[in-house]
Amino acid sequence: MQQAKRRILVTSALPYANGSIHLGHLLEHIQTDIWTRFQKLRGNSCYSVCADDAHGTPVMLKAQELGITPEQMVAQTREEHDRDLRAFLVEYDNYYVTHSEENREYCEFIYNRLKDNGYISTRTISQLYDPEKEMFLPDRFVKGECPKCGAKDQNGDSCDVCGFTYATTEIINPRSVVSGATPILKNSEHYFFDLPKFDDMLKGWIKSGAISDEIANKLEEWFEQGLQQWDISRDAPYFGFEIPGTKDKFFYVWVDAPVGYMASFKNFADRSGFDPDEYWQKDTETELYHFIGKDITYFHCLFWPAMLEGAGLRTPTGVNIHGFVTVNGAKMSKSRGTFIKASTYLDHLNPEYLRYYFASKLNDSVADIDLNFDDFVQKVNSDLIGKFVNIASRCAGFITKKFDGKLSDNIEAPSLLSEFTEKETLIAQLYEKRQYNKAIREIMALADKANQYIDTQAPWVTIKAPEKQTLTHDVCSMGLHLFRVLAIYLTPVLPVTARNIQSFLNDEFSWEAINEVKRNHSINKFKALMQRVDDKKVEALIEASKESLKEVQQGTQAASESAEEEKTVDIEPIAPVISFDEFSKIDLRVAKIVNAEHVEKADKLLRLELDIGNETRQVFAGIKSAYAPEQLVGKYTVMVANLAPRKMRFGVSEGMVLAAGPGGNELYVLSPDEGATAGMRVK
Ligand code: 2FM
Ligand code: ZN
Repeated sequence: MQQAKRRILVTSALPYANGSIHLGHLLEHIQTDIWTRFQKLRGNSCYSVCADDAHGTPVMLKAQELGITPEQMVAQTREEHDRDLRAFLVEYDNYYVTHSEENREYCEFIYNRLKDNGYISTRTISQLYDPEKEMFLPDRFVKGECPKCGAKDQNGDSCDVCGFTYATTEIINPRSVVSGATPILKNSEHYFFDLPKFDDMLKGWIKSGAISDEIANKLEEWFEQGLQQWDISRDAPYFGFEIPGTKDKFFYVWVDAPVGYMASFKNFADRSGFDPDEYWQKDTETELYHFIGKDITYFHCLFWPAMLEGAGLRTPTGVNIHGFVTVNGAKMSKSRGTFIKASTYLDHLNPEYLRYYFASKLNDSVADIDLNFDDFVQKVNSDLIGKFVNIASRCAGFITKKFDGKLSDNIEAPSLLSEFTEKETLIAQLYEKRQYNKAIREIMALADKANQYIDTQAPWVTIKAPEKQTLTHDVCSMGLHLFRVLAIYLTPVLPVTARNIQSFLNDEFSWEAINEVKRNHSINKFKALMQRVDDKKVEALIEASKESLKEVQQGTQAASESAEEEKTVDIEPIAPVISFDEFSKIDLRVAKIVNAEHVEKADKLLRLELDIGNETRQVFAGIKSAYAPEQLVGKYTVMVANLAPRKMRFGVSEGMVLAAGPGGNELYVLSPDEGATAGMRVK
């Protein structure tokens, strides 16, 4: 029975309109594009949309710095982003911009509904204000001395030296990054969205399977800390949409950004002549998936579903969250030449290499993905050239030259071909679940089998024996049947190569076509499909990325990444490389758990008392889902003893216990070997 065609809408996070697309963005756009292409290959209807995230203070200030209007800057950047993404074969149905009429209308519509439904309130708050520039200052536009350790030149919200986090108003000798003036405190009325009212609804949505267990665990921590009213307004001057019924109050960029998904889709639907609103109604059968990075989980898994629900619209079917990109094991770095822009990459290397490499590593977890360039070269050369393309280059020449460009009538190894086609269900499931790494592993294991088959049959030997011509024809045809199945499996990852293979095989690929067998089929002349990666090109890419650093230092590329909008909460920030000195600042101690108990009203926390030799500490640990208190009492573990005390709803937590695992019931408290006693330093 033919399965009903699914109707799917997919989005990627909207890149800010004040910087270039780089490897970090590409991971996500490639992940989304592979998924979308897979759905289309399966015969489903799958639209994908994206846009530039145009609004906010950083965009406004950067445009001023460049002496152009924000509209002009956004138009230029949008074009550049669209071009870069297309060059990486990322094919959105629409790449739009949030500064659009469609978006203004949707924002007003949603806001008015939220207001009518009683979810908007106002309150006066006091914030730092730049009296020279006459504007309120977001945290990252204030610098000063750390209120705890006195370190100079620290950001408005946290100290890089001692790690202390503080309110911007607590910073000593603050100064505005914009004008250098000393900020003053100024009152202003702000608009708030009543997120706490959606506590139950959000907990229900999470249980619908929209997010992984790993993320659900993280969200539980946020629920535990208590949801807060969300400040959705910003004062003029601000590049954004004015809030209806107000003067000089604008929607905070994070309100209109996700609404921008709807606007981009509407702009596309209007041009294509269908009604997009069906995709946003509560009772819709359509599916909606957002692909995002872990740093913007809060916005997509709390604010956004709550906004949609509050406005009477559908919530997302899934939010697919990935980790960050590291390069050669470390955070991307301009000085090391690993902060690589899309356009610089394209000057040196084939985009399909990167698509393949990312696919071979991408999975459904939020673990970071490392692009190791030695591994990259090795994988592309060995898998794509040495295994995959090699199958065709070993067989195609004989078919063209000796057998009139036609595949034989006979299937020489039917059970081997079945082995290839029978993997179809598994590989489809792996793509569907975004476990691309496992899909690639399966596909390459099959490529190994195809090559072993050809090695054993050695058509280059049999071709010389007149009595073995039929066998040689059958074997080379068999090699191409196997190659064809692999090529269909790889189509979502390698769209250009797949297109070239379709011309070569005189064929049209679809997932269903995996089970077609091309007997007596005419093919075209084989042309080289892909070149090996040359190490030198990788070196040149890294060198050129260092050069773009020089440009930055010369100021031709105005303050770009520092200009990203603030984000409320990070999930596990990327671990930077630290020096031995930095490591030695961490006071790790063996601790004996002398008491453990439940905490009233906390779903996740246990209260522990830890003996560390000369004192007893109280620590709230998020391990309730993995341990009953009685399992812990008497156990030895390891704690961070010099972590700044943290005030929580239930009391002060005076350190941190070390545990491993993704969360939920998969959490393992670390223990020292027998013999260690309370208070011993861990080194
Ligand atoms: O974090 C970012 O880069 C944001 N510009 C993503 C916005 S995604 C969506 F909500 F629009
Ligand atoms: Zn400090």
